[in-house]
Amino acid sequence: MPTDNFGVAGLGVMGRNVALNIERNGFPVVAYNRGDENAAKMRAESRDKNVTVTQSIPDFVSLLTPPRRVLLMVTAGRGTDLVIDALLAHLEAGDVLIDGGNSHFSDTERRAERLQARGLHFVGCGISGGEEGALWGPSIMPGGNRDAYLRIAPVLEKIAAKTDDGSPCVTYCGLGAAGHYVKMVHNGIEYGIMQLICEVYDILRRGQGWSSEEIQQLFRDWTGSGQVGGYLVDITAQCLAKRDDSSGTALVEKILDTAGQKGTGKWTAQTALDLGIPIPTLSQAVNARILSGLKDARVEASAKLTGPSGGAEADRGHLRRVLHDALHLGMVACYAQGLHLIQAASAEFGFGTDLAEVARIWKEGCIIRSKLLDPIRQVYSEHPRLENMLLSPAFTTATNRNLSALREVVGLANDCGVPTTCLGATLAYVDSYRSEFLPANLLQALRDNFGAHTYRRLDMEGVFHTQWNR
Ligand code: 6PG
Repeated sequence: MPTDNFGVAGLGVMGRNVALNIERNGFPVVAYNRGDENAAKMRAESRDKNVTVTQSIPDFVSLLTPPRRVLLMVTAGRGTDLVIDALLAHLEAGDVLIDGGNSHFSDTERRAERLQARGLHFVGCGISGGEEGALWGPSIMPGGNRDAYLRIAPVLEKIAAKTDDGSPCVTYCGLGAAGHYVKMVHNGIEYGIMQLICEVYDILRRGQGWSSEEIQQLFRDWTGSGQVGGYLVDITAQCLAKRDDSSGTALVEKILDTAGQKGTGKWTAQTALDLGIPIPTLSQAVNARILSGLKDARVEASAKLTGPSGGAEADRGHLRRVLHDALHLGMVACYAQGLHLIQAASAEFGFGTDLAEVARIWKEGCIIRSKLLDPIRQVYSEHPRLENMLLSPAFTTATNRNLSALREVVGLANDCGVPTTCLGATLAYVDSYRSEFLPANLLQALRDNFGAHTYRRLDMEGVFHTQWNR
């Protein structure tokens, strides 16, 4: 029996690499790209392989074995709708269309409804791991109709990264747009952890005058850490080690300090506000990128607004330890906030997402893979409904152990005039979360004063309003 083939539409580097991954795992691939350049690259890269490349949508669809399975690997947004429009003229009821791009979850909901009305299945599917991951094993986050998922699961399980015990980094994330929601939050966490790492670097570089080599050594030492070790710390050590060909100095020091973004971090912050879930570490990472983009204004302000620049040299051994523990707590907060958000979205949108499974499939292949995901998975296996993992015994202990280090690091950075947009947000988050009382009593009084918004009392039942100026 020949194996049913699999379609890949969109042959940018991610699409080509996923196609090659699918073929390597034993599934014949039909690959489509309208433009010449990517189609030619696919032909060149798949010579002698079981990949048929076409630039015609009707040919693409007719070459696929019904019921067809088509993976879209196109840039999220309008382009995705255009390719869907073109495919819809040829696909038939029962076919499964998978969107492997970073689509907004509301677009995925809309597209799923549209295809369902035509008898087709739509699977919104997050794929993480960059170019290498796409080729050798990404983490895959599919959602939507479960039967449709089961039809594509044998392929996804083969091409996904594998954890230590050999299980594939793919799971059914839940109904509707669950897959793209989980991937969006993955990216929000990615933003948070990267910004935390950058702040540690900034404290050492600008605040303490360490060289890039010394900072690189620190991150290299941390790659084996059970608390902060993971892909992003690994590639930080790699980036800091890279030399500029022309000057021979660290390449990072030559890079313009304005960060780009494609939207998934911002969407994470937006949906968290909509759902009323606090994710300050993740949201502040988006603000940090926005502030980085104000380069001209910052150059002007740097000549007008004064403050400390650098501070007294701290004991290096001690500083290494507190920075490690502060980064650990920051990373824990990123996962805690992100998973809290997914938990809330799952309840709100009826996804039915299993957080232990999410932690499992993030363990390998994706950008936020880290050693922390083992204890996180353990926590949600034991307490699937847990709102915030900071309340689990394992993370309560870790948080209590590291909070003073984070406080010290934020204090030191403040003294040096180095911004701690995410480290500081994490400290305030944990301090708020552990506060039985917050100053919202005064806030309520103010709201009631100017707007008669009313308030409740600690000492009696009911809703109250006061004439505050009498
Ligand atoms: C991944 C990445 C990838 C990319 C995002 C974020 O999981 O492989 O998350 O999807 O990094 O698009 O990119 P920006 O930083 O440009 O928003």
